[in-house]
Amino acid sequence: MVEMHSAQADIGVIGGSGFYSFLEDVTEVTVMTPYGSPSDSVFVGELAGRRVAFLPRHGRGHHLPPHRINYRANLWALRSLGVRQVLAPCAVGGLQPHYGPGTLVVPDQLVDRTKARAQSYFDGEMLPDGRVPNVVHTSFADPYCPTGRAVAVAVARGKGWEPVVDGGTMVVIEGPRFSTRAESRWHAAQGWSVVGMTGHPEAVLARELELCYTSMALVTDLDAGAESGEGVSHDEVMRVFGENVGRLREVLFAAVTALPETKERNCLCADVHKGWDLGIELP
Ligand code: ADE
Repeated sequence: MVEMHSAQADIGVIGGSGFYSFLEDVTEVTVMTPYGSPSDSVFVGELAGRRVAFLPRHGRGHHLPPHRINYRANLWALRSLGVRQVLAPCAVGGLQPHYGPGTLVVPDQLVDRTKARAQSYFDGEMLPDGRVPNVVHTSFADPYCPTGRAVAVAVARGKGWEPVVDGGTMVVIEGPRFSTRAESRWHAAQGWSVVGMTGHPEAVLARELELCYTSMALVTDLDAGAESGEGVSHDEVMRVFGENVGRLREVLFAAVTALPETKERNCLCADVHKGWDLGIELP
């Protein structure tokens, strides 16, 4: 069923169709935002008593490349449905030889190497209703929700996932091409752990909307600098992600049930703008 009105959810999952197809009583909700349309409809359903909203990041059929995803619309849409905590599975390349395919990294730091993506709601752009957001500088020293991270690590380990890496730095490149060997070696030499294409500006936009955001990065390949073969291929990424999607879904579902209730959020994400006049109301 497709609905235009807002079904409600507490927890958002930004990931592929493999993650919502097992929910019961799913409502497909079309959401429009001041920033345009999200990647797709949002699929809202119930899981172990929690209301969950799933949004396919790349759209159904994976038609949106990372640099063309409307990240602002995606996060705004989720928040407007009531979502306050976001779990964000994604595929990444391992930058260090010991982060091989199948490793699950729950990063605690992020490096932004994207180039041309709208990455703020507070950029002076007038909204369709005439309001203009104020200038706001959002705290982002620790880009991920500490509570969500702890939950993700605990449930993945509890499900027997091996290895699960608690922490590490995800560098996000513009894509859609993969890194050259020189870029990859440079990223690795900085001590960064994994490389992806979608983790930013998703993380900062979530923070600007005072959402808890937890990245769950599945390593699908060793990036060009860490492997000796011909480099990463799209086929390899999709194949390894597909091989792991079942157990990743199990971990996600367990995480959904283990996250605190929205009203119990006591992390910095929940009120990062405390005391600031944003000029607009968050949805
Ligand atoms: N996503 C999956 N593997 C990747 C890689 N090696 N580089 C960037 N993004 C990726």
